[in-house]
Amino acid sequence: MADTLTITDNRTGKQYEIAIKDGAIRATDLKQIRAGEDDTGLITYDPAFMSTAACRSRITFIDGDNGILEYRGYPIEQLAERSTYLETAYLLLFGELPTDAQLKDWTRQIVLHTMLHENIKKLMEGFQYDAHPMGVFLSTVGAFSTFYTDAKKIFDESARKKQIYRLIAKVPTIAAYAYRHSIGRPYVYPDNDLSFTGNFLNMLFRMTELKYQVNPVLERALEILFILHADHEQNCSTSAMRGIGSSHVDPYSAMAGAAAALYGPLHGGANEAVLRMLNEIGSVQNIPGFIKRVKAGEGRLMGFGHRVYKSYDPRAKIIKRTADQVFEVTGRNPLLDIALELERIALEDEYFVTRKLYPNVDFYSGLIYQAMGFPVTMFPVLFAIPRTSGWIAQWEEMLLDPEQKIARPRQLYVGATRRDYVPLEQRS
Ligand code: ACO
Repeated sequence: MADTLTITDNRTGKQYEIAIKDGAIRATDLKQIRAGEDDTGLITYDPAFMSTAACRSRITFIDGDNGILEYRGYPIEQLAERSTYLETAYLLLFGELPTDAQLKDWTRQIVLHTMLHENIKKLMEGFQYDAHPMGVFLSTVGAFSTFYTDAKKIFDESARKKQIYRLIAKVPTIAAYAYRHSIGRPYVYPDNDLSFTGNFLNMLFRMTELKYQVNPVLERALEILFILHADHEQNCSTSAMRGIGSSHVDPYSAMAGAAAALYGPLHGGANEAVLRMLNEIGSVQNIPGFIKRVKAGEGRLMGFGHRVYKSYDPRAKIIKRTADQVFEVTGRNPLLDIALELERIALEDEYFVTRKLYPNVDFYSGLIYQAMGFPVTMFPVLFAIPRTSGWIAQWEEMLLDPEQKIARPRQLYVGATRRDYVPLEQRS
């Protein structure tokens, strides 16, 4: 027997058979359920899309209850251990791990596109000296649409590929320029002899030396962080990318919107909030008092809890290991002791256990970034660089999916019923 759901409408006594496929019913199948002639049919109400799938996707799989994250079927732990960010980006975008020749060609294409147009540089110089790097980042990505007019040809495969190369290659350059701008240092041009993350560190931190010496531990740590952040299926910023892209705008404009979504403190800003929280706690002795306040509803334990993961976020485990390696090079971040103790207490506390609140990816990533010398304002930008590959993969999948149309949710109108306009002099 086919999987179906039988619905009885108590208003009319009628019964409806609704097909269940892949664990879901089609919301539009409910339209046939009508109470009368004037009824336009039943719709679903789902604020924040808690229980609505808006697409079929082949990119990222998450099993939140069991702490599983896979890109194109490959477990995140194996990718973090053995892959590089560029190889992972290729996997997300093209569906398979590249062959040796494909990886060489992909890497060469990225290297060829790392430079920014000089006018982009000038545009970035126009920002205030204390502009938030994420604001600079998302504005600059949006401005790209005015430089690359071929980006409008979204159904031309080769034009699309060109924008993919540009976006993946140029986001670290924008990010580094945004950072250098914020501290008043001259921009450093890309060094294409270096790896993707090595070059990024060069553009951020190079001073007067002729050749920037990349620390291999920090270079690898950044690769791992980039792999972990590359995609996370239909989160807030990815839904923004798909939603904006569904109007068939160019990918730069869509990605400016996705980056704006990531800017928010509940999404890409959470690791900054973790650091602020650890600083506020100040010392291990203050932790019990802090936990008490959180349990009383006076604030949240930042870096804990996740809409999807109801067990330990698999990315948090990998990040914790990476943190140890980074601290061996940079010295221990003094906030680490507070974080470790906080985690220990929270994992034993009934409040957090019953609500399935575990550390998420942001709990330790901020500590690593801070130890590597990044200011907190750069944290969301460091998230946006690798997420670019996920955003574009999801955007392209949406574009090529014949089931997709312009995104247009419904609403339940609960406002005033029809009434006549009242002239100003008659209003009380
Ligand atoms: N600290 C304390 N209590 C919490 C926390 C937390 N971090 N997170 C959730 N809770 C509690 C809620 O108060 C609620 O309790 P109640 O049932 O007694 O009312 C219960 O747990 C469920 O919380 P919701 O808000 O319904 O969970 P939701 O899935 O909507 O929220 C979110 C997920 C936003 C991530 C939340 O856990 C949170 O705010 N965490 C802190 C911010 C954070 O770390 N965000 C990063 C997410 S990862 C990312 O975006 C990359």
